[in-house]
Amino acid sequence: MDTILVTGAAGQIGSELIPALRAKYGASLVIASDIRMPAPTTSVEGPFEHLDCTKADQVQEVVRRHGVRTIYHLAAILSATAEDRPQAAWILNMGGLYHVLEVARQYRCSVFFPSSIGAFGPTTPRDRTPQDTAQRPTTMYGVTKVSGELLCDYYAHRFGVDVRGVRFPGLISYAAPPGGGTTDYAVEIFYQAIRYRHYTCFLRGDTALDMMYMPDALRAIMELMEADSTRLKHRNAFNLGALNFTSEGLAAEIRKHIPDFVIEYEVDPIRQAIADSWPRSVDDSAARAEWGWSPAYDVAAMTRDMLQKLGTKLKPALAKG
Ligand SMILES: NC(=O)c1ccc[n+]([C@@H]2O[C@H](COP(=O)([O-])OP(=O)(O)OC[C@H]3O[C@@H](n4cnc5c(N)ncnc54)[C@H](O)[C@@H]3O)[C@@H](O)[C@H]2O)c1
Repeated sequence: MDTILVTGAAGQIGSELIPALRAKYGASLVIASDIRMPAPTTSVEGPFEHLDCTKADQVQEVVRRHGVRTIYHLAAILSATAEDRPQAAWILNMGGLYHVLEVARQYRCSVFFPSSIGAFGPTTPRDRTPQDTAQRPTTMYGVTKVSGELLCDYYAHRFGVDVRGVRFPGLISYAAPPGGGTTDYAVEIFYQAIRYRHYTCFLRGDTALDMMYMPDALRAIMELMEADSTRLKHRNAFNLGALNFTSEGLAAEIRKHIPDFVIEYEVDPIRQAIADSWPRSVDDSAARAEWGWSPAYDVAAMTRDMLQKLGTKLKPALAKG
């Protein structure tokens, strides 16, 4: 069996992708890597490498030593943090991807690259955003995601690297905290609802965005990587839709379980401006047609599951406090 490498494995996606890949392919064949250690509670036991993706020699050494054949490249700086540290975001998001693609070219690896709805901008049609459309993002995160999509296409066409990817919306999960994105409110709201029955939201109540529950995101990654390549016309940067709501709408859904939950607003102009430059919803018909994408969770099912799982996770801390 071929070895799999996951970069940025201690993050929000990696914390859940690692156990899912290890369950499917065997723990010893899935190398988790990051510049920090994954939390012990979120990682099924298996190999870990300290790997800084901005260092080409480190990426090459790990791939060569372990005979890696597939790389899930998750290491990146997310949207809100990237506006804070644009230079660092360019170095990691572009430099890291370039090193991964170069190694993939030399060692004939397949690559998974997650792009984002952040790859769109204010001139993109905002409702049911088409798969192929204007992409002129106004954030450093978006600039690195569009450039990354193009670089992946280039390596696929020029060098035959099997690189596949999706444009994720905001991801909601209970295992690891989100890493500094504009959609983090949709995770924070659950923690605060359980702990305090109160949440102060940094986006306006009527801001609609696409979101996705982590189990659907993990399934999307694994199904795309296993899809029949002859059916893939796009390969990379597939639009993916799943859930679509405003914070007002999500609060109303939470109130069905916690009736005295209160939401207030203290809008952060930077994150609001980022959200306002993104699509309100995307058209994911290419993913549905080319590899059978279909989300399983709606807002009601996601909310029920989040409150239940997070309630269990936070119980010991709540009992102490
Ligand atoms: N989470 C989302 O809502 C979302 C949405 C769209 C796209 N994505 C994309 O998915 C990928 C993973 O996102 P995530 O939410 O897990 O991010 P995250 O911020 O939670 O995790 C990123 C990980 O990268 C690691 N990292 C930082 N610098 C590194 C370096 N130099 N070398 C190696 N690792 C380094 C961090 O320690 C962290 O564990 C990113 O490319 C992100 O842009 C995420």
